[in-house]
Amino acid sequence: MIKHDSERKIWVLEGDCFAYALGLSKTGTIVQTYFGEKLPYLSDYPEPELIAEYPYSGGSEVYQETFMGFGKATYTEPCLKATFEDGVRDLKLVFINFKISDSVLSFRMKDFFYPLEVILHYKIVPAYNLLELHSEIINSGSGNIQLEQVLSGSLYVPRDEPYRLTYLSGKWAGETQLSHTELPDTKLVLESRRGTTSHFTNPFFMLDRGGNSQEDHGEVYFGALAFSGNWKIVFEKDRLGMVKISAGTNDFDFAWNLKPGDNFVTPISVLGFVKEGFGAVSRNLHRYQREEVLPAEHRSSLRKVLYNSWEATSFDVNEDQQIHLAKIAASIGVELFVMDDGWFGARNSDRAGLGDWIVNPDKFPNDLQNLIQEVNALGMDFGLWIEPEMVNPDSDLYRTHPDWVYHFPTRDSTLIRNQLILNLARADVRQYLFESINRLLTDHNIRFIKWDMNRNFSEPGYPSAPREEQKEIWFRHAEGVYEIARKLKQAHPNVIFQSCSGGGGRVDLGILRYFDQVWTSDNTDAFDRLKIQEGFSYAYCSKIMESWVTDEVSWISSRKLTLAYRFHCAMMGNLGIGDNLLKWSPEEQQEARELIHLYKEIRHIVQDGDQYRLKSPSEGPLASVMYVGEQQEEAVVFVFLHARNFMNHLPRLRLKGLRGDWLYQIDGVEQLFSGQALMAIGIKLEFHGDFQSKVIRIRKVEAP
Ligand code: GLA
Repeated sequence: MIKHDSERKIWVLEGDCFAYALGLSKTGTIVQTYFGEKLPYLSDYPEPELIAEYPYSGGSEVYQETFMGFGKATYTEPCLKATFEDGVRDLKLVFINFKISDSVLSFRMKDFFYPLEVILHYKIVPAYNLLELHSEIINSGSGNIQLEQVLSGSLYVPRDEPYRLTYLSGKWAGETQLSHTELPDTKLVLESRRGTTSHFTNPFFMLDRGGNSQEDHGEVYFGALAFSGNWKIVFEKDRLGMVKISAGTNDFDFAWNLKPGDNFVTPISVLGFVKEGFGAVSRNLHRYQREEVLPAEHRSSLRKVLYNSWEATSFDVNEDQQIHLAKIAASIGVELFVMDDGWFGARNSDRAGLGDWIVNPDKFPNDLQNLIQEVNALGMDFGLWIEPEMVNPDSDLYRTHPDWVYHFPTRDSTLIRNQLILNLARADVRQYLFESINRLLTDHNIRFIKWDMNRNFSEPGYPSAPREEQKEIWFRHAEGVYEIARKLKQAHPNVIFQSCSGGGGRVDLGILRYFDQVWTSDNTDAFDRLKIQEGFSYAYCSKIMESWVTDEVSWISSRKLTLAYRFHCAMMGNLGIGDNLLKWSPEEQQEARELIHLYKEIRHIVQDGDQYRLKSPSEGPLASVMYVGEQQEEAVVFVFLHARNFMNHLPRLRLKGLRGDWLYQIDGVEQLFSGQALMAIGIKLEFHGDFQSKVIRIRKVEAP
């Protein structure tokens, strides 16, 4: 997996199908020499190559450096920028030694004068064609070092080629939409400066070589960052033909006071390469998340069908009404009943109560015990909404600790959704939050936590900290969320944690190490959702993608969709119901019961199978996604018709991922087809009208 050619000073990390090679340059830096398809012999991998000496800035040698410090005559994005105590702001990192242990290759580098060391770690995750990269900055001296930029590392895609960049952009109620652009001959930055991952751009990218890759073919380089605070991914393409990609925490308003003996560990940057197009990128990332990233306790269990009361009851919750909803939910097959906002403190609207994680005695005179017992007696688990990082000024917590929020004393704090952000850089705030939630989980039989975060940062002041540490909050906040979640998970391993941030504002590979699933978007209009879920599927697996069935007429779009269409869309992930069940007729309840039953039969394929995007909702009259079970013996296809025009025929739906020589039966169709026929010819669809949908089940049969 990791090979070393000591004579040529080359290191190669090999996955099942890809390889990444590094070498030691003449100037003593670690440089990338190859990234792409796995090659047969160690001798195939090139040695470090001097790309150029800048014609203008003579003396500046350009290599594909993997971790460049800001220093000497370098002009591209540095991974590290530091100021030493004497005011010097120049780094010359040189190679000291390397270490290979299991699947990790580490390089130790050091400034040639100052006591600053860097360890660059590469971990190969062979089965998914992925590499995890991160760095560690160590102050081995006796004075402070101010860090102004620390990235996880840089990589390069092959030079002198055109690339198309695909990324996920969005907004509230319109997250994870696909965007494409030709990689320009200049710098391009994907980033968040909002204190969290953000709805607007997700830390994920794909670069396809030549710009003409498709779902099933084409060389694609891809990457994602495991971080939920400010982040950036920088693409630099220049006229030397070089394409450099650097990723890590955002340097915007960032500074870190690295004290003697301390180290700063960067988030993990995940990188990969496939030759088989975008579909393969996603399947690799999906498997990687399901098998390596998600918290181990719930990785292999199937997610339950949930009901969430938010869209039905808003803040107006009480014991009787929740029990009433729970009875209907249980009767249609729901397995997990989640009470959303409104149950605590003086929380009658979004203007008060955040921070006071105590059950509201007027709404719940019997604490939550009665409700939970009822829910459990109905055969369901109970779950609860919280928003730990936030506080309303109208709360006991804020009245007692006004200094616990990010703020600048001389400035007004901007209220967003009437709330402020608690300073999670502070140990006392972390402790308060851990204790409050720990108490809730200890005192009640709660099996699911929906952890929300409903605003982005402003006035990011930490006035009580030493001046040189005040800008650390951008990193420390995310670290605080991880720490509290980690401690809670350790104390309560049975509890599933869901990450929500006003919908899908905090979905990334960092949060997914602590949270088992995510709320994809507050937009539950099933037609809009097809596009949000499509974009989501490029980077993230369906097992974590919570999707709800809500109102017949969407509050977001005023579009009217049938119950079956809404269910089919939500069944492509982790099925939930968020509608007001009190309004459902007995016929609707019966239809829902049957659809939930169907979901339970196929969810192991949807949640743990391989996903194939058959038809994009952005092209043509159809959208379709297929999931294939692990042994390729069963599959399920979701198809949606937007509208038919001009009496046009619908295209046949060509399936993917089946075994060509096996015979398959399509539910409700007598004739058997080989996998090859289903993939080459496809299936004929009978569809009429607008906004129609179908679920098609396919099973392997023995040859008659
Ligand atoms: C956010 C979430 C919603 C709901 C509300 C509650 O908007 O995305 O699902 O939980 O908060 O206030």
